[in-house]
Amino acid sequence: MTIFAANWKMHHGPATGRDLVRAVLARVRPREDRTLLFFPPAPTLPAVAAEVAGRRDAAAGTQNVYWEAKGAFTGEVSVGIAAEAGATWVLIGHSERRHKFGEADEETGKKVRAVLGAGLSPMLCVGEKLEERKAGETEAVVLRQLAAGLQGLDAAAIARVVIAYEPVWAIGTGVNATPQDAAAVHRCIREWLRARTPAGTRSRILYGGSVSPSNAAALLAEEELDGVLVGGASLEVESWAAICETPRPAR
Ligand code: 13P
Repeated sequence: MTIFAANWKMHHGPATGRDLVRAVLARVRPREDRTLLFFPPAPTLPAVAAEVAGRRDAAAGTQNVYWEAKGAFTGEVSVGIAAEAGATWVLIGHSERRHKFGEADEETGKKVRAVLGAGLSPMLCVGEKLEERKAGETEAVVLRQLAAGLQGLDAAAIARVVIAYEPVWAIGTGVNATPQDAAAVHRCIREWLRARTPAGTRSRILYGGSVSPSNAAALLAEEELDGVLVGGASLEVESWAAICETPRPAR
């Protein structure tokens, strides 16, 4: 199963968001071997959820949540509220949350536990900055983020978490990781997860960072990639539909 996830970031209100999902789903026919996820801004979620409701291959998610169930937390959204608005997935620890809003490793763990506790699917984002890559710290950074984000979970719970490897230097820059570089980090993540999940589990690991219609096929030719998490190229019908229709080599 290949996951095609659209992270709209701070783009598309309910009206343009609904039109975009409608147009994409009209173009991309359902297939057993792929899932389409849409992560709109929170106020756009109900409109997107209504559009994906009729499609078994599509779902909606939110870009962030707070771990408390309710209370005086102005500006935050609980997992319960996100679910009521139509989210079945939640992005956690996106690099922009970490590096623009100061989200700490420890907070990602609380969020993952809250999302799993509510029965939703978490997608935990990890990835190194350019200076960390240059210093040879990629694996250490990614494994530190994984350990914090999955802290306190038993093996069965860890198996439910989807990981998105998004090198910070590749996000929104037009410079994607090469398929081989992405696959190498995926293997390292997979090995770490394999030791902590039930025997036979294949954890799902997506790649994100400047994925476009022109590089999606090469990236998805790597067996290590279980899908892609896409920002800029998911904001328009043509480019997003083209990515969602990327052929994968038969295995
Ligand atoms: P871009 O696809 O715009 O590089 O963004 C990637 C990303 O951050 C998805 O979460």
